[in-house]
Amino acid sequence: MAGNPGLVMALPKGRILGEVMPLLRRAGIEPEPAFNDPDQRRLQFATNHENLSLIRVRSFDVATFVAFGAAQIGIAGNDVLLEFDYPEIYAPLDLGVGRCYMAVAAPAELAARDDPSRWSHVRVATKYPRITRRHFAARGVQAECIELSGAMELAPGLGLCRRIVDLVSSGQTLEANGLVEIEKIVDISSRLAVNRAAFKTRSEEVGGWIQRLREALDGR
Ligand code: PRP
Repeated sequence: MAGNPGLVMALPKGRILGEVMPLLRRAGIEPEPAFNDPDQRRLQFATNHENLSLIRVRSFDVATFVAFGAAQIGIAGNDVLLEFDYPEIYAPLDLGVGRCYMAVAAPAELAARDDPSRWSHVRVATKYPRITRRHFAARGVQAECIELSGAMELAPGLGLCRRIVDLVSSGQTLEANGLVEIEKIVDISSRLAVNRAAFKTRSEEVGGWIQRLREALDGR
């Protein structure tokens, strides 16, 4: 339609993308070849649908692009969605990929004598300060967060703080860094994130993609 800017779908870079692409393909979305070229510096890609392009950004930035309507739809873990808690984002579908969970962890020797039920205050290194504070506040514990954007597992060994809150998938990163899980906070998986305003004003297009992704999920 003339004058109708195409829809933009924001995808997370990294490990999750490999799990998400088969689902997108089942929903009939095929990116241009440059999308799969590791040397490509362009960040926005056309698809086999004239009115749909893909952008590849950091997972936290998927939520920002979608919340501000710069991308109308996106794929992000509920870790990211819970951390920002943007009212502008509607998350209608659990895509069932990128499964892992968020947990509190500490060095094995500390965990052996740790009793989380006795804490009144806890200091943790995390990329998720809001989720962490909410989790502990719910049982009256004040959480002091030292914010990192990755490699949280280094913090206890280097004396930054004794405990961390991070994502656990296979558990290998915790183990390789001498840490063990103390308590689970929440299960994580990738969700379809939709800008609420776009869902209202472009309901046919946006709703159409939600439906195609729902069918791709049901059919697998
Ligand atoms: C995630 C997470 C842990 C690791 C857990 O990091 O932050 O470090 O994966 O996976 P595992 O339990 O299978 O070892 P990721 O590699 O996604 O990078 P990040 O540190 O940039 O988040």
